[in-house]
Amino acid sequence: MENPLAGLVDDLSRYLVGQSVPEALAMIADHFPGKASFSTSFGLEDQILTHFIFTHELPIRVFTLDTGRNFQETYSTWNKTLLRYGRPIEVFAPQTAELEALVSQKGPNSFYESIENRKECCYIRKMEPLQRALAGQKLWVTGIRAEQSANRQQMHAAEWDAAHQLIKVHPLFDWTWEQAQAFAQEHGIPVSPLHRQGFVSIGCAPCTRAIQPGEDFRAGRWWWEDQAAKECGLHATAPHQGLDPVVERMPE
Ligand code: ADX
Ligand code: SF4
Repeated sequence: MENPLAGLVDDLSRYLVGQSVPEALAMIADHFPGKASFSTSFGLEDQILTHFIFTHELPIRVFTLDTGRNFQETYSTWNKTLLRYGRPIEVFAPQTAELEALVSQKGPNSFYESIENRKECCYIRKMEPLQRALAGQKLWVTGIRAEQSANRQQMHAAEWDAAHQLIKVHPLFDWTWEQAQAFAQEHGIPVSPLHRQGFVSIGCAPCTRAIQPGEDFRAGRWWWEDQAAKECGLHATAPHQGLDPVVERMPE
């Protein structure tokens, strides 16, 4: 479906330039009362946005997709965040019946076997719960930054998400990794200990590895697949295109 809010997305994009992140988030909360949600995976960028939302007491719902395959460090960062801010983080988990069927039929690590299996797992553990999380929402805030990949450089700080039929806003779109690290340190924001071990983009444990200096930010995600289109579907701009698997190295 065409974007019914094209003018609003353009206005938002223009407005976001030059606004501080809390100002932008406050404006979003004002314009979309009860209809704006922020999704956190507890990575560095998301922890900064969580900090802004919670310390400014902004009425933006914060939720996470608990895939069940996160790193223990992600769960500990989540727990520290609850203790630090004392604010609720809503959880969306995979549907039990679908997950039971997948793991019963294909085992716990089917995602390494083919791209179809990997997408199936991402669908059950992330995309379907995301659809429920965003149902009825008008605006979705994410921690996406342009620097994260060539694909993400083509995105905009505010854009229309045709798949979910809502506006998507990335308030840290122009931030650098160094800027985010310095901000988190300065404000004592709880961050995942995995960042100190070379992890930048953190997803599920079996599908994420640390990167080497000079590697792309997303090189550690689904590293055994074609490097050209590393999106799991949450943020795919052109899903199911250019995703032919190039199996370089199957993990053990
Ligand atoms: S992904 O599509 O490859 O998994 P990435 O890890 O780069 O996404 O994160 C980009 C943004 O997507 C995060 O800033 C966050 O807003 C959202 N996101 C990713 N994974 C999750 C998750 N498990 N729960 C909630 N939000 C998530
Ligand atoms: Fe499954 Fe890996 Fe996708 Fe997580 S990232 S949902 S474990 S395929």
